[in-house]
Amino acid sequence: MDNQQVIELSQRYLMSTYSPLPVAFVRGEGCRLWDADGNEYLDFVAGIAVASTGHCHPRVVEAICEQAGQLMHTSNLYHIPLQAQLAQSLAEISCADRCFFCNSGAEANEAAIKLPRKWAGMNRSGECFEIITAKQSFHGRTLATLAATGQEKYQKAFRPLPPGFTYVPFNDVGALEEAISEQTCAVMLESIQVEGGINVPDDDYLPRVEDLCEEQGILLILDEVQTGMGRTGHWFGYEHADITPDIITLAKALGSGFPIGACLAKEGVASAFQPGDHASTFGGNHLACAAALATIDVIEDEGLVANAARMGSLLEELLTDELSEIDGFDHIRGRGLLLAVQVTPEVSAKAIQNQCLAAGLVVNAMGDDRVRLAPPLMISEADCQQAVAILADAVRKVAGNLNPHR
Ligand SMILES: Cc1ncc(COP(=O)(O)O)c(C=O)c1O
Repeated sequence: MDNQQVIELSQRYLMSTYSPLPVAFVRGEGCRLWDADGNEYLDFVAGIAVASTGHCHPRVVEAICEQAGQLMHTSNLYHIPLQAQLAQSLAEISCADRCFFCNSGAEANEAAIKLPRKWAGMNRSGECFEIITAKQSFHGRTLATLAATGQEKYQKAFRPLPPGFTYVPFNDVGALEEAISEQTCAVMLESIQVEGGINVPDDDYLPRVEDLCEEQGILLILDEVQTGMGRTGHWFGYEHADITPDIITLAKALGSGFPIGACLAKEGVASAFQPGDHASTFGGNHLACAAALATIDVIEDEGLVANAARMGSLLEELLTDELSEIDGFDHIRGRGLLLAVQVTPEVSAKAIQNQCLAAGLVVNAMGDDRVRLAPPLMISEADCQQAVAILADAVRKVAGNLNPHR
């Protein structure tokens, strides 16, 4: 099938939940993709911050193929050797002690919502079930995670949503302090609000939130689904703030593209979950854990966390140099290899995205005026230079079309 045939088939048979760009990728290697018509692209989206080790990393492919030929799934009715090893690896690289495995970010957050409710029932008196989240947050599309997501646009068609969530402005400790009540069992935040616009909080925000949670005896949940696994230049985004959350959620990059999610927690919190409290048929099966263990090995052996920090700084510097002279460019924000190019309101981020795609660079328009860059963590200096040249050209063209006489 060529691109057009794939598009026609999709339009005929798929539910219209997405509005995909008119391209069908069929092959990937490192930070390169090829579409069904044979065109090559430089990928600065990585399947939404998923393909961090690069597309089809040979060690991840080998681990998946080998495990697929040996044993894929037995369920959590039995012990799973690689699941235990993966939990150990995650405990070693994070501040958590125990893991629960599932298949996606939303499911990881479902576990992270249930766990403090159970914990509060055992450790706090009275009705204590409320979780405070931030406005402009994004935690997933299941009903509970949608209720946790502080964005009306995602929620409005699906009411009634499960009760027990209160929203406060992000980066505002005072508002959080005021919102905490007898009913609060936890605060749930992203270390950087990603889908909400790549909003990086002030340096003292998360440390002050941690202090407040400790004072009030409530749990701190960090949703690291998009920011985790090295993306921001540390294994986890919370490390930039030097805090140790009680619960951490992961998904996206954890399996290099093989679906797997995880809810991690400190010992005293994790122990609230007892047999029968939570489960997932597929969660942490042999195949998913093989992919995740290989992913962690590659990130460690190839120094990809440090590379994300280094390439992130370089990318930010190159973008600032190239774009600051162009009308329509506003600023860059983000951390590590999770950056947003903010353009002025009259410049269309979608037009920039489309222009880049036509020139062989995959970027992602977030809303009307922001372009997200989240390339694989293994990108090189030359990849950054190539991406910036294409992106700058696209911004110049799109902004220039608004002011043809300049
Ligand atoms: C911070 C965050 N949490 C949760 C999710 C939901 O993850 P999934 O789509 O795997 O359910 C996302 C997805 O973009 C996310 O960015």
